[in-house]
Amino acid sequence: MDGNVRPESMVRITTPELAEAFINEQIPALQKQIGDGKVLLALSGGVDSSVVAALLIRAIGKNLTCVHVNHGLLRKGEAEQVIDVFRNQMKANLVYVDATDRFLDKLAGVSDPEQKRKIIGKEFIDVFEEEAKKIEGVKFLGQGTIYPDILESNGVKAHHNVGGLPEKFGFELVEPVKLLFKDEVRMVGKQLGLPDSMVFRQPFPGPGLGVRCTGAITRDRLEAVRESDAILREEFAKAGLQGKVWQYFTVVPDYRSTGVRDGKRLWDWPVIIRAVNTKDAMTATVEEVPWPLLNLITKRILVEVKGVNRVLYDLSPKPCATIEWE
Ligand code: XMP
Repeated sequence: MDGNVRPESMVRITTPELAEAFINEQIPALQKQIGDGKVLLALSGGVDSSVVAALLIRAIGKNLTCVHVNHGLLRKGEAEQVIDVFRNQMKANLVYVDATDRFLDKLAGVSDPEQKRKIIGKEFIDVFEEEAKKIEGVKFLGQGTIYPDILESNGVKAHHNVGGLPEKFGFELVEPVKLLFKDEVRMVGKQLGLPDSMVFRQPFPGPGLGVRCTGAITRDRLEAVRESDAILREEFAKAGLQGKVWQYFTVVPDYRSTGVRDGKRLWDWPVIIRAVNTKDAMTATVEEVPWPLLNLITKRILVEVKGVNRVLYDLSPKPCATIEWE
């Protein structure tokens, strides 16, 4: 039977008990596949790779090495959370690479969105490869492929930076959640003890904040994206919108407008807030965020984020606007 086809008899994982049963079935299966071999995993901190990491930690412990590459385009607190959950709490072998300078140097002056994506993707593979070479005797590559990846793109993680990794190394793949749908992966992740903020987090693109700092990325504008995004996420969480709104983030475009503060004229950037709902990301509607909440977020951004003098709310559905700005 084709291992990439979900059998019709496979029960949908909808309860903690079913998630537990899946875990209990996977652990010995993973131990059988891997034996005492070593597995390498690119751990982004997203749901899929985190669940694969947690499963592999249970199955093979220190024979798993997770590599977390910080490309400098992560959201505030993200790398710290990966380190805390996997290294401190789960006692995993975690290699943390802060490659911020390397990525930002390569991206300097590049304004074309697809070019930016290509640079980020290639650099990611290069950094990962360098780390992989330092670890001896690795035979397997863990991957967070899920069933929609197989259905939509022949098993290549759609949009993912790590798509080129298996071919590059010739490692045998370990893909324990490849027949699961996203909601099932979340259920398994919760059962494995991963924090809700990781399991139920909103989708985050591989190129990260890089496509939300439009045009050529500069460190100061990137910081404005990161800080405003953190404020938005914090206030949405306080208002009970976390996990209810499908995706929400801020964008800082590469143009300025005039403003005034303390009697002085300013020439600063706007922050654009985007909050959308969708089923499949092919079309999207705009979340009707309550006005007082938008006001509160605006006030905080204008006070707390350097170099910003205006906050806008994006009212455009998809189509004709895409969800991301680039
Ligand atoms: P768009 O902007 O095309 O986005 O309406 C649809 C969904 O895809 C995500 N997205 C990406 N994810 N790498 C990713 O991993 C990318 O280059 C990328 N571009 C867009 C976007 O966040 C939304 O969820």
